[in-house]
Amino acid sequence: MLNKKTANGSIVERVHAVSLQTSKEIQHFGTIGKLPIALESSICAVSVENLNQVLADTKTLADMYKKHHWQVSGPTFYQLHLLYDNHFKEQTDLVDTLAERVQSLGGVSVAMAHDVAEMTLIPRVPRGRETAATQISRLLHAHEIILKEARAMARQAAEAGDDGTNDLLVSDVIRTNEMHVWFLSEHLVEPAAPR
Ligand SMILES: [Fe+2]
Repeated sequence: MLNKKTANGSIVERVHAVSLQTSKEIQHFGTIGKLPIALESSICAVSVENLNQVLADTKTLADMYKKHHWQVSGPTFYQLHLLYDNHFKEQTDLVDTLAERVQSLGGVSVAMAHDVAEMTLIPRVPRGRETAATQISRLLHAHEIILKEARAMARQAAEAGDDGTNDLLVSDVIRTNEMHVWFLSEHLVEPAAPR
């Protein structure tokens, strides 16, 4: 700790600026650090790869919800503005659950936007504003991508004996995404024509 005497008294520097530090990674992405969880590393590696894919897609979907929350328009503006934000929060909770599952299997979770952008299977969304119907269509497509992969991965995890990953994919990812699809889909239903 440095002390400087000035005309007004003493200035204490408690924080020292440190130039960009570089050090070796302690674990590379794509590797498994074995943990005592009674699961073979080869099984953990498959689950980690699958979970990172769902994680990248879920982070992308969460971003889509926030974009649509900000940019929504039309007579259902307020309803959709609120709905999109609720779904954003629930997808963001899933992101954390998925990332922590990756780490608890001894893996390294994908985390940064640029890495997520390279990995996601969800088509790129334009920067500009789109109609509410287009927003909902894009979201439904993204949900179906996640549901399709999550169902296949859940079966694979069950067959491998990774019950924790199977449970997360079924109880959290699949159920949440199915619910979100239901809530979105009802906005696209045309009211019945009067007779
Ligand atoms: Fe907001």
